[in-house]
Amino acid sequence: GRKIGVLTSGGDSPGMNAAIRAVVRAGIEKGMEVYGISRGYEGLLDGEISQLDRSSVGDIMQRGGTFLMTARSKRFMTEEGQAKAAMMLETFGIDGLVVIGGDGSMRGGLSLAKHGITVMGVPGTIDNDLGYTDYTIGFDTAVATVLDAIGKLRDTSSAHERAVIVEVMGRNCGDIALYSGLTGGAEEVLVPERPFDLNELCRKIVISRNRGKRHNIIIKAEGVDISSAELARQVQEKTGKETKVVILSYLQRGGEPTMRDRLLATLCGVKAAELLADGGSQSKAIGTVNGRIVAYDLEEALQQKRPFDEEMYDMIGVLAK
Ligand code: F6P
Repeated sequence: GRKIGVLTSGGDSPGMNAAIRAVVRAGIEKGMEVYGISRGYEGLLDGEISQLDRSSVGDIMQRGGTFLMTARSKRFMTEEGQAKAAMMLETFGIDGLVVIGGDGSMRGGLSLAKHGITVMGVPGTIDNDLGYTDYTIGFDTAVATVLDAIGKLRDTSSAHERAVIVEVMGRNCGDIALYSGLTGGAEEVLVPERPFDLNELCRKIVISRNRGKRHNIIIKAEGVDISSAELARQVQEKTGKETKVVILSYLQRGGEPTMRDRLLATLCGVKAAELLADGGSQSKAIGTVNGRIVAYDLEEALQQKRPFDEEMYDMIGVLAK
């Protein structure tokens, strides 16, 4: 059988372990030898490669993080590093690789594909910033964490009649802010995809307080071009209402993956193993579109720009009025 490798790369996301488990067990079932590569591309360059069996991925599906560990490798960013990494795979007799990670990690995979490795990209990132797939593994769990935080912040903010700016992750993508804002009932969501008007935001806060609201929840994506501290300072000055900041940061990256993330991870992992077991040499990006699992040409998939859901964004304003 074919020898394949699996690695996780870039920021970890809840559900990565479920994806690894699926690749390993489905791969072995299909008669392949599956090798785990530790620390992403960094570990690949160092030859941290060892064979996995069914039991080596037992009891990990429900855990956040990634048992293979992950890294952001500078060495791998160079042409030379990529050639070396491809050579390392060749040394181990591995010609198929499952890369679980976000945009940068998949681009890394594409560079290996150009050196003759068949690469399956599995979308693991909390950011939901890939254009070709509706959802990425870890996004649902990250949003659930934000929702939990919003609930707690509502309690204390109401008690003190405060406004709170909740800064969420997402890099240049506003999806974590958008989804948690809409389903968490935030009044205002600031995202990199849309400009925002400070005066309008402050007007809304003042009007809502005059109507009897006791708190204001404002979700701000980290990619918005003003620091949360500075925004809070300006809002407090303009509204006269006490305004606090909570940066959720890495809390959003941990925790037990939700059913949706485990399911997406499992289905994508199995698909990756199946495509490699079929002996194909075409590199693919795996994801989900309209509820179905899809596998697109890796290079073309990575060229797709992520559309921003304007309709959902506009709903937030309507529902929070
Ligand atoms: O891509 C996931 C992510 O958590 C982003 O939301 C964030 O901007 C970034 O990673 C943080 O990177 P690091 O883990 O290197 O601090």
